[in-house]
Amino acid sequence: MGAPGLKLVLAVLAATVLNAAVLCNGGITSSFVRKVEMTEDMPLDSDVFKGPPGYNAPQQVHITQGDHEGKAVIVSWVTVDEPGSNTVMYWAENSDHKNKANGKMTKYKFYNYTSGYIHHCTIKKLKYNTKYYYEVGIGHTTRTFWFTTPPAVGPDVPYTFGLIGDLGQTYDSNITLTHYEQNPIKGKTVLYVGDLSYADHYPNQDNVRWDTWGRFAERSVAYQPWIWTAGNHELSFAPEIGETKPFKPFIQRYRTPYKASNSTDPLWYSIKRASAYIIVLSAYSAYGKYTPQYMWLEEELPKVNRSETPWLIVLTHSPWYNSYNYHFMEGETMRVMFEPWFVQYKVDVVFAGHVHAYERSERVSNIAYNIVNGNCSPVTDQSAPVYITIGDGGNVEGLANNMTEPQPKYSAFREASFGHATFDIKNRTHAYYGWHRNHDGNAVEADTMWFLNRYWHPVDDSTSAKS
Ligand SMILES: [Fe+2]
Repeated sequence: MGAPGLKLVLAVLAATVLNAAVLCNGGITSSFVRKVEMTEDMPLDSDVFKGPPGYNAPQQVHITQGDHEGKAVIVSWVTVDEPGSNTVMYWAENSDHKNKANGKMTKYKFYNYTSGYIHHCTIKKLKYNTKYYYEVGIGHTTRTFWFTTPPAVGPDVPYTFGLIGDLGQTYDSNITLTHYEQNPIKGKTVLYVGDLSYADHYPNQDNVRWDTWGRFAERSVAYQPWIWTAGNHELSFAPEIGETKPFKPFIQRYRTPYKASNSTDPLWYSIKRASAYIIVLSAYSAYGKYTPQYMWLEEELPKVNRSETPWLIVLTHSPWYNSYNYHFMEGETMRVMFEPWFVQYKVDVVFAGHVHAYERSERVSNIAYNIVNGNCSPVTDQSAPVYITIGDGGNVEGLANNMTEPQPKYSAFREASFGHATFDIKNRTHAYYGWHRNHDGNAVEADTMWFLNRYWHPVDDSTSAKS
């Protein structure tokens, strides 16, 4: 073969290799390119941060699940003028009988900041599927809110969760929250995947920005529970100003029902809600072998009864599968520790935040590796969860818009935009998932997937397999 012939063969070979590389690419990198804009916090005098009128009026009102089954609610609020009452009055819709629950008050200092009077009160023994009104601020200025308890736990109970992460308090955060509130697929409970206020963005981690965040989020979280996951911005670890107790503001302000799931720490716990079993992990607490979190999860996973709660959902802050050039592989150590269990126990979906963009994976696992065999590529695995990064709430750090190329095979869909998602459980086999970008109308879903339950209907539900 002469030189021109050789060149031709090489060119064909090169083209084949190039083609193969393209075919090796993963799913869809969305063609939607969000305009690059400044992301900035809303100023302190914004209307969304305004406190309620009246002497010692309760503010920053928020609720979360208060037990393991969904029959209790933790109500939290802050008063600023004086401690005031710890009492919550509550009554079922269509009932004149008012009940009373008593809580506790706490406050904390962070460098030169002193918090208001933070109240936490657990309301127990509620009836399922019932609308309740509740009143806080007894004695001075009262405010009344309401929530609806979930249906009794059961395998075919429909229920709709919202997904929000890394929200912060920028103009984009406000759009995300409004978009969630106006989504026609009405989320009944938010699964929040960590990083709340980004107060640590300010000098001395100015905790006034925890207060503004509490007032901003109240319009949703006073009326429906948000299930809290701790992110790195909750760490508040600042030894340079003498603040060495990790998670102090977060733990003082946001309670979780961790004791109900035999956890020894508020940062990791589980709840049942309708047909879902939700496990919350802390990516910033120890999780190596023999640590409390490791031992708790090892005991916890075998307890999940899929005949009672078919949908097994995990929340953690740092994603295990992430093809953006931000926080790359930060979730890797936790993946190494826990992924074999997630496959063994057939977790349906893992939601994470941290990366300020959106990504959904195929069902893959990467558990074959040991230190000598070299098997270190993710493989398709129908027992594995789908991994979703939903850290796109719109906080002050801005958008993650730099992706690794080519898109890895495990990545089914990715887009650098702000938004939120909903996970709409229909029955024990089907759940409809949709991601909503902020730039669209309220009903528009930019990415969707029908989840097929891994325990009851474990057939291939990959979106790319069918396209
Ligand atoms: Fe984060």
